[in-house]
Amino acid sequence: MLKTHHCGELRAHHVGQAVTLAGWVNRQRDHGGLIFVDLRDRSGVVQVVADIAHAPGAHELAARVRQEYVLQVRGTVRPRPADLVNPRMETGEIEVLADEIVVLNPAKTPPFPIFEDTPVEESLRLRYRYLDLRRRRMQRNLILRHRVIKYIRDFLDARGFLEIETPILFKSTPEGARDYLVPSRLHPGKFYALPQSPQQLKQLLMVAGFERYFQIARCFRDEDLRGDRQPEFTQLDLEMSFVTREDIMELIEELMIGIVEECSDRRLLTKPFPRLTYAEAMARYGTDKPDLRFGMELVDISDLVAGSNYGIFAQAVAAGGQVKGLRAPGCAGYSRRQLDELTSLAQKEGAMGLSWLALSPDGEIRSSFARFLTDEQVQAIIARMEARPGDLMLFVADRPPRVAAALSALRLELGERLGLRDPGTMAFCWIIDFPLFEWNEDERRWDPSHHLFTAPMPEDLPLLDTDPGAARGQQYDLVCNGEEIAGGSIRIHRREVQEKIFGLIGLDLEQARERFGHMLEAFEYGTPPHGGIASGIDRVVMLLAGEESIREVMAFPKTGQAVDLMANAPSPVDPEQLAELHIRVVEP
Ligand code: AMO
Repeated sequence: MLKTHHCGELRAHHVGQAVTLAGWVNRQRDHGGLIFVDLRDRSGVVQVVADIAHAPGAHELAARVRQEYVLQVRGTVRPRPADLVNPRMETGEIEVLADEIVVLNPAKTPPFPIFEDTPVEESLRLRYRYLDLRRRRMQRNLILRHRVIKYIRDFLDARGFLEIETPILFKSTPEGARDYLVPSRLHPGKFYALPQSPQQLKQLLMVAGFERYFQIARCFRDEDLRGDRQPEFTQLDLEMSFVTREDIMELIEELMIGIVEECSDRRLLTKPFPRLTYAEAMARYGTDKPDLRFGMELVDISDLVAGSNYGIFAQAVAAGGQVKGLRAPGCAGYSRRQLDELTSLAQKEGAMGLSWLALSPDGEIRSSFARFLTDEQVQAIIARMEARPGDLMLFVADRPPRVAAALSALRLELGERLGLRDPGTMAFCWIIDFPLFEWNEDERRWDPSHHLFTAPMPEDLPLLDTDPGAARGQQYDLVCNGEEIAGGSIRIHRREVQEKIFGLIGLDLEQARERFGHMLEAFEYGTPPHGGIASGIDRVVMLLAGEESIREVMAFPKTGQAVDLMANAPSPVDPEQLAELHIRVVEP
């Protein structure tokens, strides 16, 4: 090794030891006869002193080094004078008096400072990702990611799971996104699809008798990107035979609790994880991924305002819609402008508008609609909302999906404004009993709400023939702080049920055989009942790290436009390569 110690490990008990260090210049401060160089490696930073009186050669070199030069330093650890101890540095009690400094490599001035976590524009960070990754925050995030994955592997190994790799060059495995395709050179006009998940392969591993499989699996999805989505991302993918959904949920719950408690300093708010049916989650929070770090539940007041003189409420109820509201504690003093902001937010989610009722601290009522209602009606609303003086109530009247979308967005916004979404805490919950299908109005057919291998609830099987929209699936999502971090299901393991599902989602048997013939065939050779789950590792680590985007916990992520700014991918290729692949580009 070119070093005997790591910079960040030196402490008072090393005083007097001769050490050799190697790392990067974090900062250099020239005080004439004394030059201080903060030397950094992955473990941390230590102060090196070059003293002209002690080692003139080292001092001369230290005068010339700049930020991010790579140095090797030979010297002796010594205590800092009491008044120069730096309690903010882990190595702040000591410093290294340099005997010799070697420049292993000089460095150009970096495009942004490495030694402090000042905000830097993201595109610049991604362009120079290798420099960005030198910064403390990114080092911390990637170390955390490593520890989480290591914890997962150990946890599952101890419970009899085998890690098995599955191919990246495969056939379309739809999870609701577009596929990334790879043209075949050997088979003109034919394509592999990168897996959106290992779903089919893990089910085939159950047919193959492995019983307990997992994989830290890369998945590829061509979909609209956001902070919590990347075109390629990593799942903890898992499948088990001879289990009920209870077994899988219990296992994952224990794993997640372990991850939070062993790998982070986050506080778990909900243990055991509460379970909400899909219908309950939609009714109480307006979303199937509720942030349970705070209450502020939605309250239905439809029955109180049906037939009232406030047209917006009365008409919504008469048309089969609903009126629901939420209560923002202590927000009665919101200004016109603040209320307008909330109204725009509700409108962005498709609501026509927002009605509000504020109860001032001295009990006065200010409202956009109270004058149209009787005193009794207003009092009944206040009582139903459990409002106290100082509270603001917000109401949306519309069709249920719009009410849910608008109030769910308002709830998150108010939770944020009121400081109720503490990033230091984690609130998990399970969502169960999802509808098996969603109606696709554009294509006039049913889409699977999870994926097409999810088994219906046994008691809902007859509904597939009579009322598919009412059938529930044996599926479960794990939600944390408003993020969906895992999803899975018990699978269909019988061919006739699988074929019925294909029919409902508009695949005729010919198409189904073309795309999934290998699955249907496998199901005829003694398939065990099985089920599984996959968890977005990027999202889990993002929450543990307190970051807002999964890009912050991936070494080399892509932008929202699916571009790698560092390597400049995607990029054009040579015409010869295209010819070899039998591909001609049609300019848009
Ligand atoms: P699903 O599609 O719900 O299920 O994905 C599982 C989990 O993966 C994460 N995730 C993503 N993370 C980052 N970027 C993306 N583009 C992205 N898409 C999904 C989420 C999600 O909960 N095969 C099934 C699982 C199963 O049934 O066993 C599947 O992939 O955290």
